[in-house]
Amino acid sequence: MRAALCKKIGEPEDVVIADIPSPQMRDDHLRIRVRACALNFPDILTVQGKYQRQPVLPFAPGMECAGEVIEVGPKAKGGFKVGDRVMAQPGVGCLAEEVCTSPMSVYAIPDNVSYEHAAGFIVTYGTVYHAFVERGDLKRGETLLVLGAAGGVGLAAVELGKLMGATVIAAASTDAKLKVCGQYGADHLLNYSEEPIKEAVLGLTNEKGADVVFDPVGGDATLQSLRCINRNGRLLIIGFASGTIADIPANRLLLRQCQAVGVAFGGYSIAFPERVRANMAVLTGWWNEGKLKPHVSMTFPLAETVAAMNALVTRKATGKVVVTIA
Ligand SMILES: NC(=O)c1ccc[n+]([C@@H]2O[C@H](COP(=O)([O-])OP(=O)(O)OC[C@H]3O[C@@H](n4cnc5c(N)ncnc54)[C@H](OP(=O)(O)O)[C@@H]3O)[C@@H](O)[C@H]2O)c1
Repeated sequence: MRAALCKKIGEPEDVVIADIPSPQMRDDHLRIRVRACALNFPDILTVQGKYQRQPVLPFAPGMECAGEVIEVGPKAKGGFKVGDRVMAQPGVGCLAEEVCTSPMSVYAIPDNVSYEHAAGFIVTYGTVYHAFVERGDLKRGETLLVLGAAGGVGLAAVELGKLMGATVIAAASTDAKLKVCGQYGADHLLNYSEEPIKEAVLGLTNEKGADVVFDPVGGDATLQSLRCINRNGRLLIIGFASGTIADIPANRLLLRQCQAVGVAFGGYSIAFPERVRANMAVLTGWWNEGKLKPHVSMTFPLAETVAAMNALVTRKATGKVVVTIA
């Protein structure tokens, strides 16, 4: 089968298209013919050797995908059958024509949803729902500041934040990105290339600050957010797309009586797959009701995987970047 292969730790340019054997399947797994693989920032980090869970070389990157079931192991649970349209989160290996995975990470795709739009649903919405409900206790009426708000997890945070009754301040680096956030319901738009986060958020919140901060960016944006977080606020540490992990000053937590809360959806999915399935049941229910609209801004064929990855690296994308596999 064809796959995008990382043979050595390096940069996206080091990923090559290669013919490799189809993966071997366990008796309790499903084999999926991948039609679309949505990229997540951790896919880049894995290629760079910077992610917390590194696959053994060589490997096909790609945490999640959508496609159809082409083989069901004799001990596979879940009731899936050949031909089912599904989305899946195997964790790695999705930039390939076939991937094998446990049915625990596989979900039916709602009717009329394309593979491209389904491919990036699990990690983005799953992460945000886990962050808001199980880590951050986001409540109706609270003010939510979303950093990197036009990115993959960021835009899902804007959309789910609104759906869950928060007032959403979307913060991003360009007006074009913020326009997309506005289309996804953000109440306030903050261009952090032009305005300091602290002053803008304090101005928008009558000097109180945000109750919850969703932070996939890290670095200086984290430190600024801690200067405009409300008493009892929750700073949700999602990731470090800026490349810098902030050293959080403990005195800021004390002075604001706030919390910094870690969120790790990948590890949570492995440790508590049943809880993730329960969360996904809520999310796919909302999706079926038309309350969620995953945004795909760019698609690339498998042969252009490097360009697809670089769309994330160069901050060109909004929502999801998807690699399609014919
Ligand atoms: N904790 C978890 O469970 C979990 C799950 C999924 C992802 N993540 C993490 O969340 C972060 C975002 O992931 P994603 O897939 O949503 O990525 P993405 O789609 O590329 O979005 C990242 C956003 O970060 C901002 N950014 C700021 N500085 C950047 C830089 N130097 N390079 C690239 N982007 C930069 C960009 O927005 P502006 O241009 O507007 O600043 C961009 O839209 C990553 O660190 C990822 O590892 C964590």
